[in-house]
Amino acid sequence: MSVRPARAADAATLESVCLLTGDAGQDATHLYTDPALLAHVYLHPYLVLEPGLAFVAADGDHVGGYVVGALDTADFERRCEAAWWPPLRDRYPLDRWAAQGGADASVVRLIHHPPRADPAVLVDHPSHLHVDLLPGWQGQGLGRRLLETLFDALAAGGSRGVHLVVARRNEPAVGFYRRMGLAELAGDDGSLTLGRRFG
Ligand SMILES: CC(C)(COP(=O)(O)OP(=O)(O)OC[C@H]1O[C@@H](n2cnc3c(N)ncnc32)[C@H](O)[C@@H]1OP(=O)(O)O)[C@@H](O)C(=O)NCCC(=O)NCCS
Repeated sequence: MSVRPARAADAATLESVCLLTGDAGQDATHLYTDPALLAHVYLHPYLVLEPGLAFVAADGDHVGGYVVGALDTADFERRCEAAWWPPLRDRYPLDRWAAQGGADASVVRLIHHPPRADPAVLVDHPSHLHVDLLPGWQGQGLGRRLLETLFDALAAGGSRGVHLVVARRNEPAVGFYRRMGLAELAGDDGSLTLGRRFG
């Protein structure tokens, strides 16, 4: 097992990892009629706009998970607004998908109205990340190796710290993040914002 930079050729496999872990860590396949929707929000913009901050867990030719990140979340949000969301808004019209309802509609709403990170969180934790491993790849230290690889890259890029948002009901991930040194910065009924400073 190794951790290496993501390649363009990994994108399709990583998209399936995103879906297979997309329901608070569980398989989200049954929730979506469009299997690419989640990855349009939580995976592909990072592979395209922050390619140096995307790493995969690999075993030979097999890829079982990834971490992706953005160095400067506010700048990443601006670049998504300029270049990433417009073609997706054309492809996924809000009114048509909202009428359908369900998980697809929720993600299409994110494409049209992406949430902005809390500026107070960004002061000391300007970077953010997403990490996912297939079930058979979990619990073997790969999550730690992926996060540590990303932390090193973010710190080398001058970041002061990193944050992430996790569903409260994803208790295994919350336990993992706390073990990895991330502490609670904010929260609401459904989610927690956790963060860790560098240096
Ligand atoms: C969450 C996830 C990334 C963790 O990766 P992992 O490879 O399973 O975790 P690791 O084996 O690297 O564990 C790293 C450390 O965290 C600890 N840990 C893992 N889960 C834990 C938990 N629930 N509670 C406390 N500690 C935990 C491990 O014991 C290990 O400690 P050590 O390195 O000090 O011995 C992975 O399980 C996953 O992808 N889950 C499904 C997708 C998901 O939920 N992603 C997050 C969405 S916000």
